[in-house]
Amino acid sequence: MNNKIISVFGSKVGKEELAEIKTSIDKQWLGMGSKTRLFEDRLSKRLNLKGFVMLNSGSNSLYLALKLLDLPKESEVILPSFTWISCASTIILNGCKPVFCDVDLETQNVDYKSIAPMITKKTKAIMVVHYGGKPVKMDEVKEFDLPILEDAAHAVDSKIGEKYCGSIGDIGIYSFDAIKNIAIGEAGGLTSKHEELIEKAKKLRYCGIEKSGFEASSTKHRWWEYSVTDFFIKLLPDDIHASIGLAQLEKLDQNQKLRKHIWDIYKEELSKLQWLNLPVDAEENEQHTYFTYLIRLKNNKRDELAQYLFDKNIYTTLRYEPLHLIPIYNSTHIRLKNSEILNETGLNIPIHPNLKDEEVEYIIDCIKKFGKKHNL
Ligand SMILES: Cc1ncc(COP(=O)(O)O)c(C=O)c1O
Repeated sequence: MNNKIISVFGSKVGKEELAEIKTSIDKQWLGMGSKTRLFEDRLSKRLNLKGFVMLNSGSNSLYLALKLLDLPKESEVILPSFTWISCASTIILNGCKPVFCDVDLETQNVDYKSIAPMITKKTKAIMVVHYGGKPVKMDEVKEFDLPILEDAAHAVDSKIGEKYCGSIGDIGIYSFDAIKNIAIGEAGGLTSKHEELIEKAKKLRYCGIEKSGFEASSTKHRWWEYSVTDFFIKLLPDDIHASIGLAQLEKLDQNQKLRKHIWDIYKEELSKLQWLNLPVDAEENEQHTYFTYLIRLKNNKRDELAQYLFDKNIYTTLRYEPLHLIPIYNSTHIRLKNSEILNETGLNIPIHPNLKDEEVEYIIDCIKKFGKKHNL
C-alpha cells in the first residue's frame, strides 16, 4: 500500500454532483429554490414520507424537532448515552433535561430495559438512535406511550418491514453531512407523521417567517410584509447543497451495495478471529444502511489495535464517547454498563463507498497480523 491514509468514513462524489451544481450556477440561483423543493419531493417519495423539510444540518434538525414537540420547560427526555453530542445538547437548548439510558451491547441501539427505570413524572419524550443504520425495535419503544423522536442520521435507507426509519416515531431527523449515506457536506432535515408539524417546520426554518417575499408574491399584495409566527433562528438549506443531494440520491442504491459488499467481506474474514465481536446485521424484516462497522475486542487491547492500525495508515475511531461520561452533562455519577464497555472495547473500522477492495484486504490483513503478534 502507498502512504495514503485510509479514512474510516467517506463519500463518493464526482461528475454527477458537479453537473447538478452547474445547472444552479448557470441559473444564477444559489439560495433555497427549485432544487431544494425537488430534493425534498424526491426524498419524500423514496422514503414514503408524509413530507420532508430540508435543513442545514442533522444537529439543527434535532433542535427544530425538539422545538416542534413543544415540551414543557424542564421536561426530561430519555436518550441513549452512546450517541452524538448534539442529541443531548439540543435537548438542553430547548430548555429540557437529557436523561441518559444504556444501549444494547450487540446492536448499540437503545436498551428497552434501561428506559423503564428512567421514567419519571417529568419524562415527556424518548429519543432513539438507529445506530449505524441497524433499526431500533420501535414497537418496544412505543410501549412507553411517549412521543418518540427518531434520530435516523445513520439510517436514511433503513427499514422495518415497509416503513423507513425516521417515519415510524412522531418526528424523525436525517443527517447528510460529508460522510453520511447521502453525503452533501452540511445538510439534514426532518419528517413527521403529523402533517401539521411538517408545515410548522417549513414556517420556522426561515427565522419564523411563514413565507419569503418571493414565495408570497404570487398570492399576496405587499408581499414584502412578513407574517412572523414564532421567534426562531435560520436553518435554511440552499440549492447548491440540494443539487449535491439530488445526485447522491440517484447513487444511493449503488452506494448501499458497495457498503454491503465491504460489510460482507469483513463478516467473512473477521468472523475467523476469536478475539473479536462483530456488528449485528439486519434481521429478516429489516433493511440496514451499513453506515459504520463497529468491532468490539474481547480483550483490553483496543487502544493498541487503534494505534497499530494508525501506524499502518489506517484511521479508525470510536463513535461515540458515551455522553454521560462527558462532564458538561452533569451525569458522570451514573453507571451505564454497556455504554462504558463500548467505550473501552469498541472501534469503528473503515467502511464507505470509496473504499477499494485492496484497501479492505489490507485492513483485514493488518488486523490479523495484530492478532498473531499478540497471540490472540
Ligand atoms: C447519531 C447522530 N445524530 C445527529 C448527528 C448530527 O448530524 P450533523 O452532523 O448533520 O449535524 C450525527 C452526526 O454525526 C449523528 O451521528
